[in-house]
Amino acid sequence: MIESVGKGRTWVLSGTASSYGLHLTDGDELLHLHWGPRISGADAEALAAQGLPPCWPFESQLDGHEEYPVEGGPRFVRPALSVRTDMVRGTQWTFAGAEVIDGDELRLRFTDALHGLGLTLHHRMRGDADVIERWVTVTHEGEGPDLELLRADAATWTLPQRGHWRLSQLHGRWAAESLLVRSELTYGEKVLSSRRGHTGHQHLPWVALDAEGATEEHGEVYGCALAWSGSWRIAVQRLPDGLVQITGGAGYDDSGLLRLAPGQSYTSPVFAGLWSDGGFGGASRAWHAWQLAHVIPDAASERPVLYNSWEATGFDISEEQQRALARRAAAMGIELFVVDDAWFGQRTSDRAGLGDWTPNAERFPQGLKPLADEVHALGMQFGIWVEPEMVNADSDLYRAHPDWVQHHPGRARTEFRNQLVLNLAREDVQACLWEQLDGLLSSAPIDYVKWDFNRCFTDVGWPGEEYPQKLWVEHVHALYALLDRLRAAHPTVAFESCSGGGGRIDLGILSRTDQVWTSDNTDPLDRLGIQQGFTQLHPARVMAAWVTDSPNVQLNGRFSTLRFRFVSAMAGVLGVGGDLTEWSEGELTEARGWAELYKKIRPVVQHGGLYRLRAPEGGLSAVQYVRGDETVVLAWLQAQHYGELPPRLRLRGLDPAAAYECLDTGAVHRGSVLLHHGLHTGLKGDMDATVIRLRRR
Ligand code: GLA
Repeated sequence: MIESVGKGRTWVLSGTASSYGLHLTDGDELLHLHWGPRISGADAEALAAQGLPPCWPFESQLDGHEEYPVEGGPRFVRPALSVRTDMVRGTQWTFAGAEVIDGDELRLRFTDALHGLGLTLHHRMRGDADVIERWVTVTHEGEGPDLELLRADAATWTLPQRGHWRLSQLHGRWAAESLLVRSELTYGEKVLSSRRGHTGHQHLPWVALDAEGATEEHGEVYGCALAWSGSWRIAVQRLPDGLVQITGGAGYDDSGLLRLAPGQSYTSPVFAGLWSDGGFGGASRAWHAWQLAHVIPDAASERPVLYNSWEATGFDISEEQQRALARRAAAMGIELFVVDDAWFGQRTSDRAGLGDWTPNAERFPQGLKPLADEVHALGMQFGIWVEPEMVNADSDLYRAHPDWVQHHPGRARTEFRNQLVLNLAREDVQACLWEQLDGLLSSAPIDYVKWDFNRCFTDVGWPGEEYPQKLWVEHVHALYALLDRLRAAHPTVAFESCSGGGGRIDLGILSRTDQVWTSDNTDPLDRLGIQQGFTQLHPARVMAAWVTDSPNVQLNGRFSTLRFRFVSAMAGVLGVGGDLTEWSEGELTEARGWAELYKKIRPVVQHGGLYRLRAPEGGLSAVQYVRGDETVVLAWLQAQHYGELPPRLRLRGLDPAAAYECLDTGAVHRGSVLLHHGLHTGLKGDMDATVIRLRRR
């Protein structure tokens, strides 16, 4: 809902539990008024009437109060927008009108006469959510020289004045993504970013801020998340008077540079913001609900249990071996069988083949169809792995088009994992990828594509192109366009985003993929920490998790029970990735039981409200999901010490006046007791885990 008051110069957007307010001064300065609990139009007018507080000399009255601070004029904060022509830098705005689109999007238009520049600020708050989606459009509306956009952030977020702020972030690296840390926000700027061409393993493009010691279920939390899969930057600034602003958008340093000729526009990605007074858990559930309703495609459907052969077979694959794995997978109750790397071109190691997306003639002499048919006959869907944005130098594609990769003339072409990055901003590269991938998806009954991206950008050059910097942004637009086109042409195919595990997880890629590969780290204990971070922002419905072998072959050699591995992976979209040909009959039977159980709890796990009951750092950790009358608790005990019973788990999200029946034991529990005193898990020893299913009576 959007209210416009105060002679049409004050606006209030309201969602289910929060409001967001803006005010335009008589001097056409757009001020931020409010972000927090619901307020009325009259409240917003009263706030606007207070005007800006006085400030000391050497400070600007506007700093910390503007909705979208730009470069130029009386401002010292980090500008969200920075523009120049050959002659003039900075902007000066005249308000040009407000418009409400579809009842939930406010568009505010400004112009800068000198540059001939148009700026539209978009704010959308849907009626069923508290997330505010913000983005900008910048247009060269004049006839003068080209404009250079040095920076065009999607939004600047302003927090209310409080004594202390704490910053939560999700940091990581390969095999250790999405780790949650919290620290005091001191004066100055904290910059989170990727300058690598993809979202990056190092930070999820998300921050959360709390001022008064929020806990998992109590207190005010502000969060912001960027919908962009290339390089990005989020700067959190604590200004001299304690005010906090968060500005973010695509690009980092000159990877954000763009040039606009007359008539051209740039639309930023969305930078979404959320206020919640339900603590970190309440904020997570609000983010999840919004993504399930408005971001993730076909989110109401359930994701199948998949098998992936990567950890089992690596590069050494054959049709016969994949058939053998598929038979075992089908007997276990797997619903989707995915052939990972090494089915194409000359891909017998990571040194060759990327770029040649046709089946390897020795490994699959009749193509993929016979295997896909057998997988279908076994009652499973069929999926494959691709990495379309890359080439090996040893590939037919690179031999034919060595100029199609990002490179600087006269400089070495840096390789990581023996591969180079294709320049997706080139139209000929886009056409070639479309042809190869559309052909591939038409050549065999393929239901699922795991889309990987296994190295960062380094030599971002484009010889012959007048303005090569645009490659950073245009690569991402080309990737999005390719995915959109493939999805439209092959609507039954589902896509997974992978980038060496979790290197490309963000709201942008999630709006065009069905799930993401959370991490190459499949150790079930480490995963609990990664999942705890991941679910701060994203829902279990997209969080792929595999049960692999013990000892863990990929990473650390840790031994773990099959039970622990399954319950860990059942917290998201369950998959299996072990070498099934080595599993004993007993293990296969046990695994079948877990897969069956997962299918029963899947609607609750994938679509329910998620409550993190205990963080993984302690001996006992647990997550609860609630959907309607059903609730599921997953609990893990790493190690029991001194014979002590693990503590009871206090459940959440239940009706204290109701009774809940355990579907496995028949025991009946009172809601008030579960909420206040908790439930014994019965866990003991090392690497124990359990699934508890309760239904309201
Ligand atoms: C990446 C992925 C893995 C696997 C390999 C294949 O590392 O994260 O899951 O697909 O590539 O080369």
